[in-house]
Amino acid sequence: MFFDHLPETGFVCGHRGARSIAPENTLLALEKARDCGAHAWETDVRVSREGEPIIFHDDTLERTTDVASHSHFKDRRPWHTERFTVAELRELDAGSWFLETDPYCTVASGEVEEEEKDRIRGQKIPLLGEILSFTARHRFPVNLELKDLGTPPGDTLVVDRVLAMLEETGTMDLVLLSSFRHEYLRRARSLSSTLALGVLVEKKHPPDLIHYLKDLSAAAYHPSVQLLDLELVHELRRVGVRVNCWTVNDMTRAGELLQAGVGVITDWPQRLTGTTVYRSYP
Ligand code: G3P
Ligand code: MG
Repeated sequence: MFFDHLPETGFVCGHRGARSIAPENTLLALEKARDCGAHAWETDVRVSREGEPIIFHDDTLERTTDVASHSHFKDRRPWHTERFTVAELRELDAGSWFLETDPYCTVASGEVEEEEKDRIRGQKIPLLGEILSFTARHRFPVNLELKDLGTPPGDTLVVDRVLAMLEETGTMDLVLLSSFRHEYLRRARSLSSTLALGVLVEKKHPPDLIHYLKDLSAAAYHPSVQLLDLELVHELRRVGVRVNCWTVNDMTRAGELLQAGVGVITDWPQRLTGTTVYRSYP
């Protein structure tokens, strides 16, 4: 199971990879997360127009690709991710935006090294299959977040597809499947009694939380850091549920949470691993 590959406390998970030093949700961001010593990484799953699972966060393509500069796509504004075929998605450059906007100031500071820039410019939107091959090859655990595709209630086909791919690639025990759409998690549980599930919440806890998590046999609870309270963490740990919270970019807070046994999903995994001294970053 996913958590057998991780330490009991001090779990550091790279959010969308090592997103502060490489373009999010790319193979490079994944490599950087692994190389910097994170225990796992988190990434987002959507589907292409044909229904192929892909790795991408937003429901539109503009922020993290160069779609706006492709003249043959200009009539397809606002470029909904799920309306593009795999072939079209693969035409896009999913890395250059990172150098142009420098969202974490790591390009200007030199933390992103000069010789990395060509690789950054060459990043494409990955297919889930590619990510799972990496997972199997390197035994590097992944927290797969299934984005709510906005399908009608009861349409959970994406879950069936993703689980079939986990079976095919032999990665079931290296994956934690998480989602804000808990219906997806219920479907996953009905297909697999052993897959690790993480229940994502942003603004409020579900009523009767422990019963809710037990009902799903959830391995983990994933509240936003704003919602976290340590009393609850202890209570959940007592009943065998782990707590991992997102997105923790204040390193002092991250250090406290790690010590309290909370897993930390962060854009800055490189600051929390090795011998790095904890300090605050914006
Ligand atoms: O899985 C935690 C976190 O990734 C959820 O929010 O928007 O970053 O996918 P988001
Ligand atoms: Mg996510």
